[in-house]
Amino acid sequence: MTTLAIQYEPGNAASEALAQRLNLPLIRSIGQHQGLLLSYQHNRLTLSQPMARDAGSVSVDFCDSRLTFRLAQALSREAVVKAVGGCVPKTLLTESAPRLIDATAGLGQDAFILAAAGWEVTMLEQSPVIHALLEDGLQRARIAASAPQHQRFLQKILPRLHLLAPGDSLAVLPTLPRASVIYLDPMFPAREKAARVKKNRFLLQYLHGDQGAGDGLLPLALSLAAKVVVKRPRLARPLEELQPAASLTGKTSRFDIYVGHPDQSTA
Ligand SMILES: C[S@@+](CC[C@H](N)C(=O)[O-])C[C@H]1O[C@@H](n2cnc3c(N)ncnc32)[C@H](O)[C@@H]1O
Repeated sequence: MTTLAIQYEPGNAASEALAQRLNLPLIRSIGQHQGLLLSYQHNRLTLSQPMARDAGSVSVDFCDSRLTFRLAQALSREAVVKAVGGCVPKTLLTESAPRLIDATAGLGQDAFILAAAGWEVTMLEQSPVIHALLEDGLQRARIAASAPQHQRFLQKILPRLHLLAPGDSLAVLPTLPRASVIYLDPMFPAREKAARVKKNRFLLQYLHGDQGAGDGLLPLALSLAAKVVVKRPRLARPLEELQPAASLTGKTSRFDIYVGHPDQSTA
């Protein structure tokens, strides 16, 4: 079991509130802490492993230059956007943008790109820790949205991102209004070497242990939406060994596209 704690910072009420909410210990001295740590670094909630500095750190930053660079390119060429059905035409944006449920929201990167492409995205995340990182990133993005240099893109995207309370999508999905697409990107058990290369993935794997592989999500999603898209490593076997109707392969990932229950009307 991974030990997880929150760094105590005198005068920072947020760390105390978070410890209470997540029911985690607050520690003053991180010197000997062997496990994972949540701390506010430069005002940003960050997950790290202080005794293993090469493990890197994880936080959510929707103003990150790599993400804004992706937004500046043609979003219609993003594989995840193509896989769900493309950018939403301008005529639909104001009245009835199609809805998509990201049932494995993680750090919200795919959800953000999809919202930028015009989709109304509902995000579900089971891990209270990942959820806290994502919520913190959204909050900082809302503040940044009021700064002139970010105004245009963040002010359009953020209202289309809806993060629900932490919960298991297996339980929550059936309770939600129907969406045009359900998107799944469950954890993939990474080889140690590959995980070390992608540092943040390593921390997330460590945090989740054997959980988070998305067992049972695909059959459920297929019963609830007309279209389901699953992100997989490029060469991985299909989720639950279910063969997709089509696949889009990118540089590192593959997007498997499934036809779900035909009776599910879009909302
Ligand atoms: C690989 S990450 C998703 C990354 C995300 N697509 C992004 O762009 O940042 C997978 C996430 O799915 C979540 N997850 C797995 N099974 C879930 C379930 N049944 N319900 C909700 N979340 C789940 C895990 O907790 C993990 O945070």
